[in-house]
This record gives sequence, C-alpha cells and structure tokens, in this order.
Amino acid sequence: MTGAESEGLSAEDYATLCDFLRERTGLSFTEAKRYFVDRRVASRIQAVGAAGLRAYLNLLRFQASGEELQRLVNLMTVNETYFFREKYQFDCLVNSALDELVRGRPKGSRLRIWSAGCATGEEPYSIAIMLLEHWKRVDDYEIELLASDIDSAVLDRAREGVYDERALQGLPAHLRAKYFQPWRGAAEGGGPRWRIVEELRESVEFSLVNIADPQQARAFRGIDVIFCRNLLIYFDDLGRREAAGMFHDALAPGGFVCLGHSESMSRMSSLFVPRRFPDAILYQKPADGGAQ
Ligand SMILES: C[S@@+](CC[C@H](N)C(=O)[O-])C[C@H]1O[C@@H](n2cnc3c(N)ncnc32)[C@H](O)[C@@H]1O
Repeated sequence: MTGAESEGLSAEDYATLCDFLRERTGLSFTEAKRYFVDRRVASRIQAVGAAGLRAYLNLLRFQASGEELQRLVNLMTVNETYFFREKYQFDCLVNSALDELVRGRPKGSRLRIWSAGCATGEEPYSIAIMLLEHWKRVDDYEIELLASDIDSAVLDRAREGVYDERALQGLPAHLRAKYFQPWRGAAEGGGPRWRIVEELRESVEFSLVNIADPQQARAFRGIDVIFCRNLLIYFDDLGRREAAGMFHDALAPGGFVCLGHSESMSRMSSLFVPRRFPDAILYQKPADGGAQ
C-alpha cells in the first residue's frame, strides 16, 4: 500500500485539513476516512493547480467568493437518501405530533417544518406527501416546508426533483402514479426516471445552510418540527452538542426534533425531553423553553 499512501497527505497535513473542515462544516473525519478525504482533496488541488495543501488551504480560507470551499464541501458530503426513509417518523408526525402541536392554535395559523440536511429532497417531499395523504387538518393551517443542506449540488437536484428507481422504491405504486410523472432521459445506469409534480416542488423552500454555522442557522426561528436525520453521525460529540443547542434556539416552545434511528439526543444534550409516541420517539423542547 505504499503507492496511495506516499502520494497522499502527510499525517500533519491531514490533521490540519481535518481541523479546517471540522471548523467550517462540523464534519469530523477520522483516520479511517483518510483515503476518502485524500483522494478528493488531491483532485481539487490538481484541478485548481495549487502548489500543495498549504497553498490550497490558503485559497479555501481567503477566496472572497467561497467558490472553492463550496466545491470541496460538495465532494465531502455523503448524500445517501430515498423516499419514505425511516417512515415511522413521518407516521408519527401525521398520527400524533402535528395534532398535539396545533391543539389550541387558531385555524389559518402557521406551522413550520424544517428538513435540515435534506440532500436531494426525498425527505421534505416525503413529508409533503405524508401531510397531503394522511393529515386531516392539512388545509386548516398555513404549512411552511423548509429544507436546507450544506451541499449546493444536491440542492440543485432537489429543486429539479428528478429521481430514479432506487430513490422511489420505498414509495407505494399509487403514490408514485399520483405525485410523479415519467421524465425524459434515462438515469446514469440507464433506468427510467420520474419528476415530482410541480405542486410539490413548489411546496418546499430549499436553501443553502450550514447547520454548524450559527450565523446561517439564526435565520431559522419559530420552527415547529425539525428533521435532522443521518447528518449528525458525521459530526463529533462537540459538533452534536452545538447542533442540539442550535435546534433548541430554532424551535418554538413545545416543538419537536426528529433524529435518525442511530442518533440519540440523550447522548448529545439534556435540553430536550424524549417523547415516546406509538410510532417513534421524538425530542421535545419543553413548553416553558426548558429552564437551564
Ligand atoms: C446522509 S444525508 C441524509 C439525508 C436525509 N436527511 C435522510 O435522512 O435521508 C446527510 C446530508 O447532510 C448534509 N450535511 C452534512 N453536513 C452538513 C452541515 N454542516 N449543514 C447542513 N447539511 C449538512 C449532507 O450534505 C447530506 O446531504
């Protein structure tokens, strides 16, 4: 294994790069990820013609447009997702959580749901479909579906809303027929593709947000439900704790956080109360905001 290793970054350079990425994105890369990181950074160093890692880091730090940093971030993220992933949480939303949230709220008031780390859009669109199909009060409230990611390329794809068979396989056939149209042009592997209908594409507001950047996250306030699933597994303990604090600030009192099945708030923060519903466990910001 001398070839790949000797061409890669030195241990010191790798540590410098990981510190930089951790600070800017929250993403934490261990030694086990070294080959993954090495290859991607080497390809960017070559593409921009930088003399080496130091020169490349200077470009990342000081380029006014931030364009190169965005390109690198886009290469470093893991964007795996699909429709109805961990569906029991969407069930929980429409069977229990939303009814509880709107109790006592006048008709016509606003309800805000945020998919933080939405990747190519399957998560927020799944939420939209679940609301339309299963929440009886969907027309009684002004529902805002917000979705964001740190990766600009996946957001472009989310807005476009074109999916292949793999993304759609968890979706029942009648919902595919109702909410998707066949799309011209085959997927990379040659299979067919479908586009989600315009009404749903327009129902989600996508934006570029790094949840590890307090400035950017501050734009989110008064949120009723935050989905942040399968993202914090890429953060270290400190990053997770900071993210939990950010969710707490962004949520309205009584609001909920939904995490991925392998992520538990109890290991991150004591700001939330675990709520066991029939379909799933959600984490709730106490109605009094949570005395600290
Ligand atoms: C594995 S995907 C999960 C997608 C979806 N939430 C799900 O559970 O299927 C993780 C997403 O988190 C995004 N991500 C990683 N770090 C982020 C950060 N600091 N801020 C916002 N999004 C981030 C990645 O770009 C990626 O699209």
